[in-house]
Amino acid sequence: MTHRVGITAVLAVFVVVAFAGLVSAQEESCITCHRGLSPGQVQDWETSKHSRARVTCSVCHGDAHMSAQDVDMVSFPDEALCGECHEEQFEQFGRGKHNFGWTSMNALPVTHLEPDVLIEGGRGCGGCHNMGIKTAEQKQAQLDKGYRYQTNSCDECHTRHAFSEKEAKSPHACQQCHMGFDHPQWEMWESSKHGERWHAKVTGYLPEGAVAPTCQTCHMPDGDHENRTAWGFLGVRLPMPENEQWASDRATILKALGVLHPETGEPTELVGAVQAVDMARLTEEAWQTERDKMLKTCSGCHSETYARQQLEMGDQILKDADRLMAQAIDIVAELYADGIIEKPEGYPYNYPMLLFFNRTGGGDMDSLSYIDQVLLEMYLKHRMRTFQAFFHVNPDYAYWYGWAQMTKDLGEIQELAKTMRATHG
Ligand code: HEC
Ligand code: HEC
Ligand code: HEC
Ligand code: HEC
Ligand code: HEC
Ligand code: HEC
Ligand code: HEC
Ligand code: HEC
Repeated sequence: MTHRVGITAVLAVFVVVAFAGLVSAQEESCITCHRGLSPGQVQDWETSKHSRARVTCSVCHGDAHMSAQDVDMVSFPDEALCGECHEEQFEQFGRGKHNFGWTSMNALPVTHLEPDVLIEGGRGCGGCHNMGIKTAEQKQAQLDKGYRYQTNSCDECHTRHAFSEKEAKSPHACQQCHMGFDHPQWEMWESSKHGERWHAKVTGYLPEGAVAPTCQTCHMPDGDHENRTAWGFLGVRLPMPENEQWASDRATILKALGVLHPETGEPTELVGAVQAVDMARLTEEAWQTERDKMLKTCSGCHSETYARQQLEMGDQILKDADRLMAQAIDIVAELYADGIIEKPEGYPYNYPMLLFFNRTGGGDMDSLSYIDQVLLEMYLKHRMRTFQAFFHVNPDYAYWYGWAQMTKDLGEIQELAKTMRATHG
């Protein structure tokens, strides 16, 4: 395996080695003192290639802090610092989808209604969305709220201080974030035949040479740090489909996402925000590029014809799921239009809004009606599972946790609307 380390890395290591005598006394003091404070941390760093290459504590944390009295002087490395030695990965990451994690989270109005600990503190949205090189303003906003950690995205997969390549190659490296409510890729993959094979392989039930695709096989081919998929999270794209019914259903969803005006059908100013964080592929070419890359990966282990059909079934289920979704949106939209649901505070239009993410009670969003909550869950949880499960080859998620739940949601929305109309006024 070749290790691609930038020329600066070689120089930096050279400089460190050349001045080894000078540096080591100071380095020794970081290590000696910290071995007493938190021995596990030093031990972990000693397992890393960094320790062997003399990428020492002060390379990443500076040398302004040298005692218990000046801890405030310490600095935390951002991605650019890693990039000084790992230019290739830094640039790939910078062009990639993960680089939008922090910004896309902050683009949602609901984020700013949540407690800071869930955002800047990293115990909620911010724990998974700490992905992306922060701008100077974003860093300052964090500091202003009293949070100085979460300065680096690279350690989300190569955890500190081992900074291991091998660890990042394990599908477990993705598990913390790609799981749960609206994106259970971990659960879907793990219980698919692909995941089962991987488990069989690592536990010795299959020989080492057996093939088993991991998240990285399909999403980081050739070690490329630019993770991006054709459909993305929202499962919408441009141009509109040729099928008239599907085009009309997708337009309804885009209205409920706030990117098309509910009355005129014209793009709203939110389109800019969606574009800025690359939330959806907006041209045929952009979508096809990602699809072609994926097809090439599948074709390493399956016939191309087989793989193409599997992927196209994923596209098709989106069409069917969008039919259910649009019917549900229309029912709720009529309740808005007839004044049976009052427009919640902060909603841009008198129309359901899927990008507010559901909240039951609390804060400014108390007024969100129950039927709105069912609609949000239908989109965010059940539509996501339906199509994501097709792509991750998981029959149970596709049907019982996905499609079956969507049909149940639609039934519930129909019933609720009936009752609301009957009891209104
Ligand atoms: C004489 C002891 C001593 C020396 C020498 C020392 N440190 Fe520390 N360092 C500390 C103490 C004490 C803390 C605070 C620990 C705590 O909060 O539990 C600390 C904290 C830190 C932190 C974490 C700060 C935070 O806010 O969590 C980093 C990073 C750090 N030191 C790096 C270094 C580096 C790099 C060097 C060498 C250039 C170094 N230290 C030298 C004692 C020392
Ligand atoms: C390759 C860069 C790198 C090196 C080398 C490095 N660190 Fe760190 N360190 C980091 C990163 C990244 C963080 C996380 C910063 C954040 O959360 O904002 C961190 C965080 C820390 C923290 C605070 C968080 C915690 O988990 O306690 C301490 C203390 C610390 N490092 C000590 C050390 C010591 C001691 C050494 C040397 C043995 C060292 N570091 C070497 C990159 C490095
Ligand atoms: C001063 C240069 C320098 C800096 C800064 C630096 N690295 Fe490294 N890194 C290296 C060198 C040298 C190696 C070892 C290459 C080798 O042995 O093939 C390495 C190896 C690695 C590896 C591969 C480890 C393995 O198991 O093969 C990872 C991952 C890594 N670094 C991540 C980071 C991250 C993340 C940061 C920032 C927090 C960082 N590095 C900062 C120089 C640096
Ligand atoms: C468990 C980790 C986790 C938590 C907690 C989390 N997210 Fe996410 N979020 C993700 C992942 C992973 C994706 C990408 C999913 C995909 O593409 O299937 C994502 C996608 C998104 C997207 C869409 C980005 C795009 O460009 O498609 C937005 C916006 C978002 N999250 C906002 C939030 C907000 C706001 C919160 C808190 C209310 C939150 N997230 C909580 C992990 C998380
Ligand atoms: C066999 C290949 C394969 C494996 C293994 C795989 N994925 Fe995927 N993944 C796909 C395909 C195909 C898509 C849909 C691409 C498209 O939109 O056309 C996808 C889509 C995604 C998306 C975008 C939203 C969605 O679910 O459609 C995320 C995020 C994702 N995968 C993460 C993961 C994670 C994390 C793992 C490991 C737990 C994983 N994937 C394992 C093939 C794979
Ligand atoms: C989403 C998880 C993830 C993130 C985030 C991530 N990496 Fe990686 N990284 C990987 C994986 C997986 C590999 C192994 C790729 C392969 O060769 O298959 C890897 C490999 C590496 C290597 C070793 C490359 C080699 O050929 O020796 C370096 C260095 C590295 N990453 C640096 C970084 C830096 C710097 C960042 C932040 C800008 C970063 N990584 C962010 C997953 C990640
Ligand atoms: C610290 C949390 C975290 C980890 C770890 C993580 N991701 Fe992600 N991932 C996210 C978030 C957040 C997003 C959405 C980024 C955005 O808002 O644009 C995302 C987006 C993605 C996407 C793009 C989906 C799309 O919209 O096209 C893929 C693919 C992906 N991740 C794969 C992986 C793989 C593979 C790994 C492990 C090697 C991994 N991720 C590790 C948080 C994480
Ligand atoms: C690294 C090799 C590898 C890659 C890459 C890969 N697969 Fe697989 N796939 C397998 C193996 C092995 C099986 C188990 C075969 C079996 O069930 O007999 C499998 C099973 C499947 C199955 C289930 C078959 C069944 O009988 O239940 C589907 C569907 C599938 N793969 C689709 C895909 C798609 C789509 C892609 C690309 C997104 C892909 N695979 C990428 C190796 C791979």
